[in-house]
Amino acid sequence: MWRGRAYHLVPTDRSNMASRRFGSEGNLPKNEIGWPKWTYALAIGAPVAIGLGYWYYRKSKSKRDDDFSINGKGNLKPKSNLNPTSAKFSTQKASSESEESLISVSGRDFQKNKTDEEVLPKEPCEKAKAYKNIGNRYFKEGKYDKAIDCYTEAIKVCPEDRKGDLATFYQNRAASYENLKNFSEVISDCSKAIELNNTYIKALTRRAKAYDTISDLKNALDDITAVCILEGFQNSNSLLLTDRILKSKGKEQARKAMQTRTPILPSGHFIKNYFISFCEDPIIKISEKYKEEKKDSQNPKELSGFRLGIHNFVDNKFEDVIKNCTQEIERNGQDTAEALLLRGTFHLLQGQTDAAKEDLKQLLEMESVDVKVRVNALIKVGTLKVHAEQMEEALKDFDRAIELDPNNADIYLHRGQVLLLMDRIDDTLRDLEKSAALNSNFPSATAQKCYVQYRCGLRYNDSKQKEEALKGFIEAHEKFPRCSESYFLHAQVLLERQEFEKAEEFFLKAGEIDPTDPNVWVHRGILYLQWKQDVDSALGYLKKAIEMDTKCQFAYETLGSIQVQRGHLQKGLELFDKAIALAQTETELAHLFSLRDAAEAQGRVATRLGIDIGSESNT
Ligand SMILES: *[C@@H]1O[C@H](CO)[C@@H](O)[C@H](O)[C@H]1NC(C)=O
Ligand SMILES: *[C@@H]1O[C@H](CO)[C@@H](O)[C@H](O)[C@H]1NC(C)=O
Ligand SMILES: *[C@@H]1O[C@H](CO)[C@@H](O)[C@H](O)[C@H]1NC(C)=O
Ligand SMILES: *[C@@H]1O[C@H](CO)[C@@H](O)[C@H](O)[C@H]1NC(C)=O
Ligand SMILES: *[C@@H]1O[C@H](CO)[C@@H](O)[C@H](O)[C@H]1NC(C)=O
Repeated sequence: MWRGRAYHLVPTDRSNMASRRFGSEGNLPKNEIGWPKWTYALAIGAPVAIGLGYWYYRKSKSKRDDDFSINGKGNLKPKSNLNPTSAKFSTQKASSESEESLISVSGRDFQKNKTDEEVLPKEPCEKAKAYKNIGNRYFKEGKYDKAIDCYTEAIKVCPEDRKGDLATFYQNRAASYENLKNFSEVISDCSKAIELNNTYIKALTRRAKAYDTISDLKNALDDITAVCILEGFQNSNSLLLTDRILKSKGKEQARKAMQTRTPILPSGHFIKNYFISFCEDPIIKISEKYKEEKKDSQNPKELSGFRLGIHNFVDNKFEDVIKNCTQEIERNGQDTAEALLLRGTFHLLQGQTDAAKEDLKQLLEMESVDVKVRVNALIKVGTLKVHAEQMEEALKDFDRAIELDPNNADIYLHRGQVLLLMDRIDDTLRDLEKSAALNSNFPSATAQKCYVQYRCGLRYNDSKQKEEALKGFIEAHEKFPRCSESYFLHAQVLLERQEFEKAEEFFLKAGEIDPTDPNVWVHRGILYLQWKQDVDSALGYLKKAIEMDTKCQFAYETLGSIQVQRGHLQKGLELFDKAIALAQTETELAHLFSLRDAAEAQGRVATRLGIDIGSESNT
């Protein structure tokens, strides 16, 4: 399961992206609570800047009715700003006289025509504006070199104290350079404009894009963050650009971090839940048999290799498992295939992607391997490809697995999760239905099927489907009264429906069934924020989650987000760092780095714009 990391798995209805991200009342982003206890699948497209939520949070407190949303569906694609017509200048009206006389010079090289010079107004300000107007005309005609000359003249004659005008001239010249793809000049002119007016949105946006083009992501991020703040997070194009920059920057850092990170085994709770997401896991089968038959009579001192690995696995001594499997593999013992599967799984769990791939590949190349072992390995190979965002390749592994063992419920459950990441929600539902049908005693499949059915209902505004999903949950509770996952997912859905009391009841029920699950407390914290805006309770529950499981990355991440939203940047950054240290995969790291970057950029921009973050927010 995925430590309650829902949004990773739910690329969601795009049209709803922004309101999900920022919530409707300045709470945690809705995405945060989308997909809860899910198996080890990973995000493509982790969502943005929860960090940015702070500004929304603050804003929403002062302006409740100003609900943030991106209007309509079509508006989410950023329009290319590189064509001249989209760059509309704020044409300040020059005096009607000069405007009139200048029309005649349009299209000609005015500098060489003495009479034109005479036509220009004498007064410097007016003259500068006249040059600017000619420049604008050239610009619209696509004659950027000439436009640049005009703006240069405008800058030359404009009195220095006319800062607003000068800023406009520089900004306009930057737009011309942008069309000539001369980005160093774009940056230098925008910088001059911003120096003259540090809240000049158009210049900041243009410079952000130029920095982005030359891959100076840090500066691009600062500029676009400033724009988002100045626009009050109302402009979908700016938000999308921020999102994109944060993601590329996060990815870049994650790639580097993966090469140097020390592998950390996740918490015992996480590991156990990961294995529970398979109903036909050979390791679990072997462990159960071992528990039944041998555990008490067996002296572990007499065990070695894979058998000792299983003994330690059953005993939750997970640190020894890899070493013990290695012994089996090196001596090429009779359980080598199983040892490779177990070691590969542990490598996967601690984020050693290459080592995991190597183990599973070696296993798949062996002959006469039990089919369940082979299929389980194929599913995990597929998962690893998902981590590397090779979705189509991953699907091929699942196809191979289905060929070998067509009635294996695990394959469909895990393929369903890949399909969900690919935003193929109908196919996801079909696979989960199939998984649940193949094994009516597989609680995860049933619970997840209900959850995805509800999401389908949301996507297609189909209330019948939603009702069926809710009914399905009730049936699942009756059938699997000890399945915390189905209570947990049901609670998620109820939270989304704002049925808070019932949601809490089911979260508590999930916690009762699995008292070692820290995610219950994380989500209860989120519930209290949404329901009662009760930050203190939320913080309390999150701290409890961390006490229960000091490796609960999701708790650190959520706590960090709340601290940033409250304006406690430093605390937030520290918590994000803790989450980063625990992250297992590149995708996950990329997401966390994005959060961290968003928070840091806010801090820098606030200073630059002279906004005090800390003082206003100690509520
Ligand atoms: C200058 O512009 C006027 C029209 O305003 C035109 O009649 C004249 O021929 C131009 N002179 C030169 C040297 O291009
Ligand atoms: C950009 O414009 C400046 C000033 O006109 C020029 O010196 C420089 O060579 C140009 N750079 C590119 C890459 O075109
Ligand atoms: C700075 O730019 C903003 C537009 O982004 C404008 O509203 C403001 O008036 C400008 N300030 C000055 C001093 O020109
Ligand atoms: C196997 O597990 C034991 C703990 O039971 C551990 O002490 C030992 O170092 C491990 N190593 C090998 C090679 O089996
Ligand atoms: C969803 O369907 C209901 C009727 O079932 C309708 O009233 C509502 O406007 C629909 N919402 C959207 C967003 O289409």
